[in-house]
Amino acid sequence: MVNPLPDRYLDIQLRFASTIAQRSEADLGDTVLWFTNFARRFGIGKPPMAATRPEWHHYAETLTGLGSPAEQLEWTIEFARDRPTNRAATSSTDVRAGPFSAEVTDAVVRCHFVSTDADDLSPLHPTKRARRKAELVAVFDQVRAAHPEATRVRGVSWLYNTSTYRSLFPPEHIATATRRADLHGFQGSSSWGQFLDHRGEVKHDRADVFVRRLAELDPDRPWLAFPTPTLEVDSPLSNFGPAWRNEAPSG
Ligand SMILES: CC(C)(COP(=O)(O)OP(=O)(O)OC[C@H]1O[C@@H](n2cnc3c(N)ncnc32)[C@H](O)[C@@H]1OP(=O)(O)O)[C@@H](O)C(=O)NCCC(=O)NCCS
Repeated sequence: MVNPLPDRYLDIQLRFASTIAQRSEADLGDTVLWFTNFARRFGIGKPPMAATRPEWHHYAETLTGLGSPAEQLEWTIEFARDRPTNRAATSSTDVRAGPFSAEVTDAVVRCHFVSTDADDLSPLHPTKRARRKAELVAVFDQVRAAHPEATRVRGVSWLYNTSTYRSLFPPEHIATATRRADLHGFQGSSSWGQFLDHRGEVKHDRADVFVRRLAELDPDRPWLAFPTPTLEVDSPLSNFGPAWRNEAPSG
């Protein structure tokens, strides 16, 4: 099956990794591994393990041997086209309902969101809020049944800035939000997802802002280039109890 990643989605990530490589005198193959979601979205796996796979070697060696950004993009598009489709946020999820999935590690629940709606309306459209809330409740019911040891809920996503998504979670959970500021958070959709719409197409106005900001990129603080910050939330699982399940919709 053809991998549906839009060319521009690949382009902005490649520009980001190239800028970091230039400004920190790092190897482009390494920065593409750590500062794009290519390894995961090409179905190769997560760094650092992905770097040991022959497919990644082939991609990265060829990339670094090319002379111009245009050739590097062309090669990336060609390589992506031949990879299997991999839209999942993670391959190791325990439970799912609608666009939500969750995995539990060391008693910590982590939630993911990947649009699964077949209609042409955003999965975060306000008219879908009740359905989304019911799915999120179902995910937490499954988590409690399968993982009685779970005690905390952690999330990392640009989506915690958006109104419908925020409104689905307990206010006490959302109140813990802080900006993620580390160099290891660029291998999934928690930051990159903001550039895609629900049809899987690029939000070009956001991509334009991002590309303009690359001119000022500080390789020690590359997260500042993203138009929407990635937020981390972390609170006790007890916040996802009856008061949250039965609450009236908030805005
Ligand atoms: C999540 C996803 C479906 C949302 O796309 P969408 O439905 O087309 O987006 P919406 O139009 O509903 O917009 C979502 C929010 O972004 C804002 N937004 C949308 N397009 C925007 C743009 N071009 N510029 C600025 N903000 C924009 C909207 O205002 C909305 O925020 P609000 O609810 O506070 O008003 C899509 O981004 C996606 O599939 N991303 C990849 C998966 C992902 O990011 N998962 C999270 C991983 S942790």
